[in-house]
Order: sequence, then C-alpha cells, then structure tokens
Amino acid sequence: MTTILKSKDILHVKDLKLEQISLILETAARYEKVMALGGRLTNMAGKVLATLFFEPSTQTRLTFETAMLLMGGHVVSVTDAKTSNSVVKGERLYDTGKMIDGYANLAVIRHMAEGSAKELADGASVPVINGGDGAGQHPTQALMDLYTIQKERGRLNNLTVALAGDLKNGRTVHSLSWLLGKYGPRFYFVSPQELKMPADITNSLQNDGIEVIETTNLEEAAVKSDVLYMTRVQKERFTDENEYERLKGVYAVNNEFLGKAKHGITIMHPLPRLDEIAREVDEYEGAAYFRQAANGIPIRMAIIALVTGNE
Ligand code: NCD
Repeated sequence: MTTILKSKDILHVKDLKLEQISLILETAARYEKVMALGGRLTNMAGKVLATLFFEPSTQTRLTFETAMLLMGGHVVSVTDAKTSNSVVKGERLYDTGKMIDGYANLAVIRHMAEGSAKELADGASVPVINGGDGAGQHPTQALMDLYTIQKERGRLNNLTVALAGDLKNGRTVHSLSWLLGKYGPRFYFVSPQELKMPADITNSLQNDGIEVIETTNLEEAAVKSDVLYMTRVQKERFTDENEYERLKGVYAVNNEFLGKAKHGITIMHPLPRLDEIAREVDEYEGAAYFRQAANGIPIRMAIIALVTGNE
C-alpha cells in the first residue's frame, strides 16, 4: 500500500487514483505533525532533487526545495533558464531527462509549453513532477489546495466550490477541478465569457454527474459557496495586451463583498495575487491563502518521499 506511488511521475491529476490522493494527504498530515512537535526528518538523506524552472516561480520552487531540505536531502537547480542551461542551445527535454538520471533521484519541472513535463519524463527514468506546464496542469498545487480545503472545512465531500477568474488559462483551476470532482462537489465556474473553463473539463465533470454552474456573476456564486478560489488573470498567456488590460480587474474581493458572501466562506488563492483580493481581506479569519501557501511544504514533502519510495 505504501509504495503505490513509488517511481510514479506526477504529470496530470488524472493519473492519480483516489487511494493515491488519500495517501499523499495522510503522509503530508503525518509530516506536518512531526514538524509541529519539533521532530527532524532524514528520510531523503543522500538523495538529490533537481528543480528545472523555465518560467518564473516563487512559491512552487521554494516549497519543493524547502521540502527536500527538511527531509535531509539536497537540491540542484536551473533557476535562470534563459541563460544557464543547454535548452537555450537547443537541447531537447527528452535528452535533459536522460541526463538528469545520472545526477538526481527525482526532478520538478516548470515550463511554458503544455506537455513539457511529459517530454522530460519520457527521457528520465527517475520520477518527474510537473510544477506547471503552460496553461495545462499544476497537479501539486491542486493537491495542496485539496489538503487546505480538508483542513479548513473539515471534509472534502459535498462542498459547493466557486472557481473564479481566468479559468481558461489558469492551470491551477484546471487541476483542482479534476481532483475535487472526485469528491462530489457542486461547482460554480465564474469568469468573463472570454476566460471560461475549457469545455473538455466542464463537459467531463458534467458527464460524471457533477453539477457545474457557469456564470459571470461572482456575487451570485459567493452567496452559495463554502469555498471561493480566486485566480489571477494570466497576463503571460495573452497575445493581445489590450484584451488583458480590459479583463484584468474583472473581479475583486474586498470587505464589502465579503459582507454579501455566504457566512464563513473560505477564501483561497494560489498566489501571486494582483487586485483580485484586497489586502483588508487578509484579516478575515476565512482568508486561507497564506495558510494554503504554507501547506505546500508538507504536501511536497509527501510527494517527494512517496514517488522515490522514501516515506
Ligand atoms: C500559480 C501558477 O504558477 O500557475 N502559482 C503558483 O504556482 N502558486 C498561479 C499563478 O501564477 O497565477
């Protein structure tokens, strides 16, 4: 049972079975408890994690690297992908994967192209984790989101969850909707027409019998939702700057808005935030986004340990 994730790549949330998701959440909770009690972990001693970030990241890279260090492991990284690695020289990610096998026990990649993590994984024999591939997937973010929802709401089943903002380009909401879909939610997908959730995701959820209400009206969703997951309009995915400028401020959560939302609503955001959530909201006890960010540590510890068989 405990080795069901060993040697597995984490490329798309669809690859994860319910028992594997539960194992990740349980392992994360166990590590969090050990650390809260002041315990030290050494289960990754002598092991190396390679982080390859071809797109900017603060949280994802730092949490993966911190997670590895907290388990006694080492980290090697490509941080300035524009200048410091051979991909600029035309190296294929498949070959990078073959090379990484010689240095590291696992790798995390973030890249602007959808499918990039898969290409690296095709070359590498060591486990590869997708840290965000273009507008595609961000599976480990979705796992920490799930962990956060469970901690904040006390359960995962039968929740009403609103995903709001740039649902077209936001990879976090693509992954989270698939994953949460396994727990019988009711969804509100809130976005301008131009930034709607890709139809394949919405259709697939609906075919599985999940209620999905698509709307442009954030207030309508917030009145009914247990969790509101806000996202940034993804500037880097726009080809037309005017369109970005027109859409970027489309939704804003502030204290006045909270007054109209469902009592006790949990507010989440994968970060970085722009103007979607006003700073005054940080004082609200249901504002979970910084706790959500901190949950990245135990979740990524669990993922690293489980895929390398060192839990
Ligand atoms: C997200 C991402 O990179 O997709 N950030 C993150 O990993 N926490 C969200 C975003 O950039 O808007």
